[in-house]
Parts: sequence; C-alpha cells; structure tokens
Amino acid sequence: MRPFYSAFVAAIPLVLGNFDASHVSWYTTPANNFTSTLPIGNGRLGAAIWGTATENVTLNENSIWSGPFINRVNPRSYDALWPVRSLLAQGNMTEGNDVTLANMVGIPDSPQSFSALGSLVLDFGHDQAGIGNYTRYLDLRTGVAVVEYTYHEVHYRREYVASYPDGVVAVRLSSSQPGSLNVASSLARDRYVVSNQAAVSSDIGVLTLRAYSNNVSDPIQFTTEARIVSDGRATSNGVSLVVRNASTVDIFIDTETSYRYTTRETREAEIKDKLETASRSSFLTVKQNAITDYSTLAQRVDLNLGSSGSAGNLPTDTRLVSYRTDPDSDPELAVLMFHFGRHSLIASSRATESPALPANLQGLWNQDFDPAWGGRFTIDINLEMNYWPAEVTNLADTFSPFIDLLDIVHGRGLDVAESMYHCSNGGYVLHHNTDLWGDAAPVDNGTTWTMWPMGGAWLSANLIEHYRFTRDETILRDRIWPLLQSAARFYYCYLFPFKGYYSTGPSLSPEASYIVPDDMTTAGNEEGIDIAPTMDNSLLHELFQAVIETCDVLGINNTDCTTAAKYLSKIKPPQIGSSGRILEWRLDYEESDPGHRHMSPIVGLFPGDQLAPLDNETLATAAKAFLDWRIAHGSGSTGWSRTWTMNLYARLFDGDQVWNHTQIYLQTFPSPNLWNTDSGPDTVFQIDGNFGFTSGIAEMLLQSYKVVHLLPALPAAVPTGHVSGLVARGNFIVDMAWLGGVLTGANITSQSGSTLDIRVQDGLDFTVNGERYAGGIQTDAGKVYTVVPA
Ligand SMILES: *[C@@H]1O[C@H](CO)[C@@H](O)[C@H](O)[C@H]1NC(C)=O
Ligand SMILES: *[C@@H]1O[C@H](CO)[C@@H](O)[C@H](O)[C@H]1NC(C)=O
Ligand SMILES: *[C@@H]1O[C@H](CO)[C@@H](O)[C@H](O)[C@H]1NC(C)=O
Ligand SMILES: *[C@@H]1O[C@H](CO)[C@@H](O)[C@H](O)[C@H]1NC(C)=O
Ligand SMILES: *[C@@H]1O[C@H](CO)[C@@H](O)[C@H](O)[C@H]1NC(C)=O
Ligand SMILES: *[C@@H]1O[C@H](CO)[C@@H](O)[C@H](O)[C@H]1NC(C)=O
Ligand SMILES: *[C@@H]1O[C@H](CO)[C@@H](O)[C@H](O)[C@H]1NC(C)=O
Ligand SMILES: *[C@@H]1O[C@H](CO)[C@@H](O)[C@H](O)[C@H]1NC(C)=O
Ligand SMILES: *[C@@H]1O[C@H](CO)[C@@H](O)[C@H](O)[C@H]1NC(C)=O
Ligand SMILES: *[C@@H]1O[C@H](CO)[C@@H](O)[C@H](O)[C@H]1NC(C)=O
Ligand SMILES: *[C@@H]1O[C@H](CO)[C@@H](O)[C@H](O)[C@H]1NC(C)=O
Repeated sequence: MRPFYSAFVAAIPLVLGNFDASHVSWYTTPANNFTSTLPIGNGRLGAAIWGTATENVTLNENSIWSGPFINRVNPRSYDALWPVRSLLAQGNMTEGNDVTLANMVGIPDSPQSFSALGSLVLDFGHDQAGIGNYTRYLDLRTGVAVVEYTYHEVHYRREYVASYPDGVVAVRLSSSQPGSLNVASSLARDRYVVSNQAAVSSDIGVLTLRAYSNNVSDPIQFTTEARIVSDGRATSNGVSLVVRNASTVDIFIDTETSYRYTTRETREAEIKDKLETASRSSFLTVKQNAITDYSTLAQRVDLNLGSSGSAGNLPTDTRLVSYRTDPDSDPELAVLMFHFGRHSLIASSRATESPALPANLQGLWNQDFDPAWGGRFTIDINLEMNYWPAEVTNLADTFSPFIDLLDIVHGRGLDVAESMYHCSNGGYVLHHNTDLWGDAAPVDNGTTWTMWPMGGAWLSANLIEHYRFTRDETILRDRIWPLLQSAARFYYCYLFPFKGYYSTGPSLSPEASYIVPDDMTTAGNEEGIDIAPTMDNSLLHELFQAVIETCDVLGINNTDCTTAAKYLSKIKPPQIGSSGRILEWRLDYEESDPGHRHMSPIVGLFPGDQLAPLDNETLATAAKAFLDWRIAHGSGSTGWSRTWTMNLYARLFDGDQVWNHTQIYLQTFPSPNLWNTDSGPDTVFQIDGNFGFTSGIAEMLLQSYKVVHLLPALPAAVPTGHVSGLVARGNFIVDMAWLGGVLTGANITSQSGSTLDIRVQDGLDFTVNGERYAGGIQTDAGKVYTVVPA
C-alpha cells in the first residue's frame, strides 16, 4: 500500500492549471453532456468518460450496428438507367430527376446504423456538493484520462486507458487514504438486453452484459464483460458489484460481437482470454503498454505555433469561450486541436482483429441507438476527410482499417454494379454511404445525394495517397491495386459518351442543387441530378491517373493500364464559367445555394491536385474564385466544411485566410471536449471536422503534391514556430523552424530513397547540405537533407 500511496501524492498537480496548453484538455467540472466527456479508444473499443460523482463511462465497440446486411438494390434500376440518360441529355431535367428517384433508390433506402453499447456506472456514494479540488483531463501525449478530486479530506483518483496492445479498456480507481474507497459497479444498457449480471469468484468481480444491437431479425449480438480486481471486499447483489474498504480497484473491460465471432462461445472465449491476460499482468503493466503504443504514434509530431502564456493556463472549456472574443492570445488552442485530431484517429482507427473498421461519422463514440445520419461511413466527403491527416501527420499506421472496409465494400459493389448497371467486367460501384457490411447501393432518397456512383472513385484517392506517402509497394500491389483496378473497371463499363466525353449520369454534385432553367422543363424547380458534374470528372481524372501511376510503379502493362490512359484523355476538363469560377455543373446553371457547404467542384484543389497552383495557375485562379464566392455567400457553415476551406486556402498559398478560417472554426464549432460539431457546440457531434482541422494545419506548413514545399502558406499571425515529424509524399520526414515569417532551417529525412524536389515558401533560394539547390536530388534512404535559406 505504501509505495502506491506516495506515488499517488506525487501525481497530484501542484497548482490547478499546471497543464501543457498544447497537449492536455482539462476541466474543473464533470461533463454535463456527451460532448463534454473525455474520449479514449483503442481503435475498436471506445470510452467517453463523464467524470460525474457517480461515474458514467459511455462504452462503444465499433461493430455494434443496427442489423444484418440487406440487399437493397432496386430491381427497376437498370430499366430506368438509359431512359434517364436520354431525358437528361434532351434537357428534360425534371423528369430525369423524378424517374431516377422513382426507380433507382434502394429499397429500403437506408443501410444499417452504428449503435450504442451502454455504460459502465461507478457509484462511490459521493455527492457532487461534497466534492472539492475537482479536475479531469485527457493527456494527448499518453492517451490517459484522469478524474480526481477531494471528498471528505480524502483524495480520489480515476485513471483510464484504452489499450491497443492488450485490446481492453482499463480503469484504476484509488484513494489517498487506505481503505476509504467504496464503489458499486454495474453495466447499464436501456434496450435489447438478454442478461446483465454481477458475480464474485475468488474475490474477483465480474459484470457480464449480453445483448442484441436491435430488435430486428439477425441483429449484432454481443457480450461485454468487466473484471474487477481490488484490495477491498467484493460482494455482489446479482446486478452490481460492490467493493468496500479498498484503496485500489482495477477494472478491465472488453466487448466482442457476432460481427467477428459468430458464436457466443467464441466471443466469450476471446473476452476471457483478453481479460485474463490483462488482469494477470496488472493495471500498471496494461497502462504502460498502452502508453508506449499510443505515445509512439502521438509523439511523432511536435508543433509550436507560438506561446499562449496565461491564456493557455485556463481549463479547455473556458479557453474555448475566451477564444470567441480574443483568438489572438491563445495560439496554442489550435495546436491542442491539431493534436486532438491525431488523438481521435489513433483512438478510432487501428489494425485490430479482422476486419478492422475505420473511423465512422462519430469516430467510434456514440450514445444513441439511432445516431445522426446513422453514424455511418458517409462517402461524399466525410470518410475521405477522416483520413486526410493520416499520412501527412505521420499516422499511416491508422490507415489499414480503411482498406479492410474497402475489401468488404468491393464484394458488395461488384454485385451492385452488375444488378444496377449491368456491369460485370470486374468493376465495383459504391454510392454515397456504406456500413459495416459494405452496403454499396444508393442511400436515402433525394435528388441531391442519393444517385452518386462515385464512392469508389473518391475512396481510391485516399488509397493512392497512402502509397505516395509511404512508398509501400507491397501494400500497393497486394491490397491497393486490386481495389483501384476494380474501381476503374466499373467506369469503363458505366460511363457513356456524351458530347465527345465519357460521362457520368445520372449523377450529382454532392449535396448541392441547381435551379432548372426555363427551357429545361419545370423552370425554377431545384434539382440535383445531371450528367457529368465537375466533381465526377475530377475524381475520374484522379482515378485514372492513379491507375496509370500504379501500373508504372508495379511494372504492369495490361489492358487496365492502357484503358485508363484512353479514358483519361476523354474525361471533360474542368470548365470555367463566364464569371471566372470553376463551373459546378455541366451547364452554367444558377445554384440554389451559392454558399453551399460542399466544395465538390474544387475537389481538384484539395484533396486532389488537378486545380492546384503548381500544376495549373489558370485553374487554380478559377478555383479560388469559386471558393471566395462560396465563402462570401456563407459557406463553411458546418464544422467539416469550415475545415475543408482551411485546406483549400492552404493549397492557394493564402496563409492569412487559412488562419482566419482556423480561428473562425475554433470560435464556432468545437464542443467543450473539442469534438467537431455540425454547426456549434449545442448541435450534432461529427468527427470529420476534427480530422479536416488537423489536415488543414499540416497543409499550411507542408505540401508535397508536386514538390516538397516548405511553409507554402504561413500566416502572418504565426511568424515564429517549429514543427517536426510531418511526412511528405515520397516518404520524407520533415522537421522545420521559422522566425519572422521566414524558414530558418529544415531537416528532411529520406526514408525510401526517393527523388527530392524542394520549394521553400514562395520560391526562396536555399542550400541543401551546404550546396545551392539546383533541382531534384536523388536521396539515400536514412540520410538527412538539411535545408537552409541562402
Ligand atoms: C423515393 O422517393 C420517390 C419520390 O420522390 C418515390 O417515388 C420512391 O418510391 C421513393 N423510393 C423509396 C425506396 O422510398
Ligand atoms: C482541497 O485540497 C486541499 C489539500 O489537499 C484540502 O486541504 C482542501 O480541504 C480541499 N478542498 C476541498 C473543498 O475539499
Ligand atoms: C469501510 O467502508 C465503510 C462503508 O462501506 C465505511 O463506513 C468505513 O469508513 C470504511 N472504512 C475505512 C477505513 O475507510
Ligand atoms: C423495438 O424497440 C423499439 C424501441 O424500444 C420499440 O419502439 C419497438 O416497438 C420494438 N419493436 C419490436 C418489433 O419489438
Ligand atoms: C450515462 O450516459 C448515458 C449516455 O451516454 C446515459 O444514457 C445514461 O443515462 C447515463 N447514466 C448515468 C448513470 O449517468
Ligand atoms: C419531359 O418528359 C416527360 C416524360 O417523358 C414528358 O411527358 C414531358 O413532355 C417532357 N417535357 C419536355 C419539356 O420535354
Ligand atoms: C504498353 O503496351 C502497349 C501495347 O503493347 C504499348 O504500346 C505501350 O507502349 C506499353 N506501355 C508501356 C508504358 O510500356
Ligand atoms: C490549364 O488548364 C486549362 C484548362 O483546362 C488548359 O487549357 C491549359 O492548357 C492548362 N495549362 C497547363 C499549363 O497545363
Ligand atoms: C475573417 O475574415 C473575415 C473577412 O475578412 C472577417 O470579417 C473576420 O473578422 C475574420 N475573422 C477572424 C477570426 O479573423
Ligand atoms: C453541452 O454542455 C456544454 C456546456 O454546458 C454546452 O456548451 C453545450 O451546448 C452542450 N451541448 C449540447 C449538445 O447540448
Ligand atoms: C536539424 O538537425 C540539426 C542537427 O541535428 C539540428 O541542430 C537542427 O536543430 C535541426 N533543425 C530543425 C529545424 O529541426
């Protein structure tokens, strides 16, 4: 008992507020709602800690979804396809849209939804009023969450880790005074419970919850178990486990589901295995394993954008409020948010038991049986955005669940390509959402989102970027190439010739609508469906280029490669309208909402590069005109939309605009626990904007779509700083520092021996390893290239 007690005392922060302003989010009151909790995760299990007097830990497992796979393909789809094309080609937009919805929407129109698990409830018999010196925090360097307070002169501490190596969530409860810890533990779930029991055997408490995800036929079935080890006396009343007069109570939790273990016996054997291993090795070992794993990923990147001084010493929720009126005094809030995005990816996307699942609309933190937008994998921006920071912020390890999901989608998408579009050439199609079963049919029922056969194309962009950053040819050959090849093949069958180009249709420009012009049937109506919107052409351009690049890298020259080259030349290039903006649609329609949240037509500026300034200044200027105009009309209206603008302005080398949108984002969208929201702290939580934010900060400091570009968009407001551990395409690690708005030096470590082309800021002269830079350097793997301005 003694050694533990003294270690405990040393861990109490001496002064309230003695936390690192860039790496720790902390609070002096418990969470009063879900979006104020401390979220941790091991890639599969999530825990959101409330820190209330009676503790509530909202638990999640990423394969608890509402129900089984359903083949939703509308049998009338193919019969409607050519008639719709012909209506749209004739300019009968109203009928073209109506016929599409009447015949091509999935039946039912929704796939499955992510769903709640339940809670771990810990009743200490403490009332909130008697609690003093309260602090709770989440340390983004270690992944550890802590709640601590004084109650009747005794100091109590709760410590939480989600361990990737051990596959469990682990909790340590402790008190400064021996024997003064009393706690009743239980698992709680509102619905579809099969059994919920507590038992004690050999002084070890066990809580076992068995449940269905939903009251449908063939739901996900799961078991959650918590194993409670203490130095006190444990008893059970059948539903809760009471420990009395303990100093330390350790709890190890796991959940396994029918998604990965089809029988109850196999999933409970897996739980037993994990929990026995964890409890035998002890909390401190589990915690140390978890910290080692987490910090290896989290601490690869260090970032300094200036010091906040006293403004950074306030609790995070107070800082967020102060930031609304005085953003300039707290630059470290942006850094904290940057790290929180990386934390969220480490916590919600790891190579766990197969198939691993990627971060969904809420990462993996969800308290609802019917979450907003089903908590699904939404493909018309959200899932892609979730992985924007993965490569550039040195978390390529988090990407494999994305590939796992696409492998599942692939099988479903081959079937949907055949049944909806009569394409049986080995091509797969995916529309704008999917679920854990890889459901590839159209989702929901509206002209502005449902009929969009471009999911495979957009997700392919993330796949090829994984290769471009990591240069991992094995993954490219074995996992990425089959998916790229199949995504492209679908379009070889599906695209149809229209006005000299291979064209999509019926399709749309995610979630925007245009006003039907006078001569195109019901004038003034708002419709979404058309032929070949600009985004589709850009995504196809990127896809066929990715195929050609892969053929080149892998030394393949077959019909997949030659067909991609043939198609690439017949995709309509981006069009510039009379007002100088990239056109959204096939024609210069009037948009219903010029300030629309989606930036679909300039996807070629970011994350793509078709419109990027180092590739084509004319197109970049038109993309900027489009972006400025969207913003002038009120775009950036959701959290993810606002963070997309950060990335877009970075690509336009406009650092001041990036910083403006960074500040507006932080003033408007984060909830108290730093989660991104739809339109403000009291609105729906959605994780994508957290990832878009992290990516936007990285893109402001480092770009690499054409050259390794150091400080391409440094804001005047961030004159001094440094960053280390970012990654550039070609697999270079980039560390750099700047002063007075100018790069002072950079170290670029070559990890794969690629050719290194460098640009510094807006074209400054510089030396590399002491020699004046005069073009691409053939690097040696492992070697560092030091850049100093001339
Ligand atoms: C989708 O909506 C259209 C009307 O807009 C309707 O005709 C069609 O039946 C709906 N489809 C489904 C599957 O609900
Ligand atoms: C806060 O902690 C101090 C030092 O441990 C203790 O003296 C004080 O009573 C505590 N305050 C409350 C309200 O519990
Ligand atoms: C042991 O627990 C009981 C409540 O169950 C409490 O009244 C008593 O003070 C505890 N003993 C110590 C030494 O804290
Ligand atoms: C399923 O559960 C919901 C929510 O508890 C309830 O409203 C509904 O009636 C149930 N349906 C069936 C078929 O049991
Ligand atoms: C714990 O949180 C969940 C939502 O995450 C809520 O439904 C439940 O009522 C809470 N339980 C307690 C005891 O606060
Ligand atoms: C649009 O198509 C519908 C159905 O074929 C037809 O009844 C209508 O006349 C068409 N409208 C125009 C303006 O061509
Ligand atoms: C691929 O093969 C075709 C036909 O055999 C040939 O014309 C073309 O040059 C080859 N391309 C490459 C990159 O080797
Ligand atoms: C830039 O794009 C425009 C429009 O597609 C094209 O006409 C022009 O040739 C491109 N310029 C360069 C340098 O590629
Ligand atoms: C961002 O720019 C707009 C337009 O110039 C300006 O009105 C706004 O105050 C700026 N916001 C911040 C936080 O700098
Ligand atoms: C959660 O509570 C915080 C702090 O009181 C508040 O700002 C926020 O709007 C609340 N969120 C929701 C979804 O009600
Ligand atoms: C580059 O490496 C040198 C030698 O290790 C070091 O002194 C310097 O601080 C590094 N510069 C940056 C920007 O990391």
